Parts: sequence; structure tokens; C-alpha cells
Amino acid sequence: MDGLVKTSPEQSLTRRTGGPELAVIVPTFNERANVAAVVDRLAIALAGLDWELIFVDDNSPDGTAEAAWDLARLHDNVRCIKRLGRRGLSSACAEGILSTNAPFVAVMDGDLQHDESILPAMLAKVRAGADIAVGSRYSGDGSSGEGLSPIRQWGSTLATRLSTLIAGQELADPMSGFFMVRRDLFVDVAPQLSDEGFKILLDLVVTAARKGTPPAIAQVPYVFRQRQAGESKMSPLVVLQFLGLFLSKLTGGLLPTSFLLFALVGFSGVAVHLSVLWLFTSVVPETFIVAQILATITAMTWNFFLNNSLTYADRKLHGIKLWTGLLGFCVVCSMGGVANISIASMIYEARPAPLIAGLAGALMSSVFNYAVTRIFTWK
Ligand code: GDD
Ligand code: MN
Repeated sequence: MDGLVKTSPEQSLTRRTGGPELAVIVPTFNERANVAAVVDRLAIALAGLDWELIFVDDNSPDGTAEAAWDLARLHDNVRCIKRLGRRGLSSACAEGILSTNAPFVAVMDGDLQHDESILPAMLAKVRAGADIAVGSRYSGDGSSGEGLSPIRQWGSTLATRLSTLIAGQELADPMSGFFMVRRDLFVDVAPQLSDEGFKILLDLVVTAARKGTPPAIAQVPYVFRQRQAGESKMSPLVVLQFLGLFLSKLTGGLLPTSFLLFALVGFSGVAVHLSVLWLFTSVVPETFIVAQILATITAMTWNFFLNNSLTYADRKLHGIKLWTGLLGFCVVCSMGGVANISIASMIYEARPAPLIAGLAGALMSSVFNYAVTRIFTWK
């Protein structure tokens, strides 16, 4: 026949005996040089436990996924999910967690900055009833060691304070990217998590608290290490996304992070508009209308590119879609401009308060532009 040995259905569907108790999710972007060491170190740290390792790679150009699949060929309990056309630490972690059956899941960076040797202690905490065990740099003997530059240290401390505000409970290290959680708790809150940015732990705590009782959190101190190979993906973008998440949570999730970023970008666009207008009219004072048109186009283009790499970094447009996207964006924003002017003049007629009328118009067009471009431009 075809050379295959036929087996009975009972034989081909193997019965599972147990399955891993712990899944370690490792998000990666350009970590090719680190993945083998991650496997080796976990093997030592988790010896004697039933565990699996899942890399979630966002199609790294350096071939991280291929390196991870090579490792998966060698080890039954290692695998790799490769995502195409998407970027983002938080959403990568979520996808990894949702792909396992293990009752406990840990998230750990793939650059060896997190000390894997505390994983058994974290597991002991969740086994004993904690909802979440956080690898913490700021409690007990933990510290950020050599891992952070002074400016990042400062930012990290500030972010920690802000987080206490929205989490409703004191968290030693809410910015930690190293934690373990009961899988069922995660699955429960996953639909409400923001998929932007880096701060999945904070998001998890806040969202779980909003849904019912605040989660019981245990801390396990560790010393943050220096990155092994490659470079950090932390950027001003990530910081802005954090601020967006913070504001969004502060409004009880009413305003999505992307709307706040969109509005922020719009605000910067006003500055661009006014600068171009001022520059142009001071050179050729007679042609206000030309200057106004030029300023409008410049500001729209500015807004588009900024939104594309900031607000919608996770669904960034490339190639031909970038240009058709720009065109569509300008059309939508022009309609938004019309809405702005009509609302503003309507209000102004009812009550001649220019500031209120102007603000209402601007708000109207931001909401309109946001809603429409979210559907048509960055789907
Ligand atoms: N799949 C995927 N997609 N992985 C990503 C992405 C992405 O877009 N961006 C980053 N990663 C992976 C990296 O490859 C690494 O394994 C891990 O996520 C952390 O990224 P780093 O670039 O090393 O971040 P960091 O060291 O600056 O920040 C870490 O420390 C912070 C605390 O100071 C992270 O753990 C943060 O979550 C943490 O807040
Ligand atoms: Mn790192």
C-alpha cells in the first residue's frame, strides 16, 4: 500500500497521562542567540517537575523561530508558535498562555534577564493558593541589579507608583515581566486584556480585580540580570503605550488605550499644523489659503505616520497598504474636519462661546476620525 503501518484509532490517539503542570511562555523577538540557553537553564531549574516551554515568536528576522523549532525537535516539552503580521509582547504572551493546558503558566523574558531559578518557588506559591506569583525586583532580597540604566530605573520606579493607583493594591513590582498565574484565572480575564504594549502583569491584576475580588498575589524576590545577547525592545513607544494603558485603566477602561494615543497624536498634529502655517505665512504672507491647505496636508500626513507606528504599532501598515492607508486616512480626516466645523458652528449659534464650541468640534472630529479609521484603515 502506501507504506504506512495501519494502527487502530485507539492506538493513534494516545491516552494522556497527566500532562505538564507548568508551562513557561517565552515571548521572543530577535533572540536567536538566547533560545538554546533558555532551554538549558530551564532544564536545570525545573528538574523533577512536569513542565513545558512555549516560545512565541513574532516572525523575528534573525530566525529565532527556526532556532526554537530546532530545539523543539530535540525535546518533547519544547515548542514554538510563530505569529505572522503581528507584533507585541503582551499579545504574544496571551497567545502562548491560551495554547496550553497546564494549570499553571509562567511568563519569562527570552534574554536571560529573569532568574529562572526562582520558578520552583513561584510554583510553590501558586500551588499553595496564590493566584499570581510575581518575580519581584523590589521586595525582599530582589533588586534590579545591573539590569537597568539610571534613567530606566527612575522610569520603572515612577511606573510602579502609578500602578499602585490603578491596581487598588500595593504591588512590589507591577512592571515585572516575570510572573506565574493560574491558567483558569488568565483565561477568564483574557478577553478584557489590552493587547498593546509590555505591561501584561499590571493589566492582568487590574482586570481581575475589576471582575471580582482582587487576586491574591505572592512575591518572589530575584535579581534582574543583564541582557545576554541582542538588544532591548524597550522604546519611547513602549513608554507611551504604558501611559495610554494607565489612562485607559484610570477611566475604568472606558477609553481604549488606542483612542488616548490617537488623541495625543492629534494634539501633536495641531502643533505641526500651526508651525507650518506660521512658517509659510511669514515667508509668503499673501497666500493664507494655500498655507492653510499645505498645513492641513502636512499635519494629516504627520498624524498618519505617527498613528501607524505608535497607536497601531501592532498592526502597522507596510508597502502599498501604507500609501492607500494614507489616502484613506486623509479622506476620513477631511470628513472629520467637516463634522468639526458643523458641530462647532451649531453650538456657537446656540451659545456664542468660541472656546466651548471649538473644543466640542475638535472632540467630535477626533471621535469620528478614530472610529472610522479604526474600521477602515487599521482593521
Ligand atoms: N513575541 C514578541 N513580540 N516578543 C517580544 C516583543 C514582541 O513584539 N517585544 C519584545 N519581546 C520579547 C523579547 O524578545 C524578550 O524576550 C522579552 O520580550 C522582553 O523584551 P526586552 O526587549 O528584553 O524588554 P526589556 O528587558 O527592556 O523589558 C523587560 O523588563 C521590564 C522591566 O524593566 C520586560 O520584561 C518588561 O516586561 C519589564 O517590564
Ligand atoms: Mn530584556
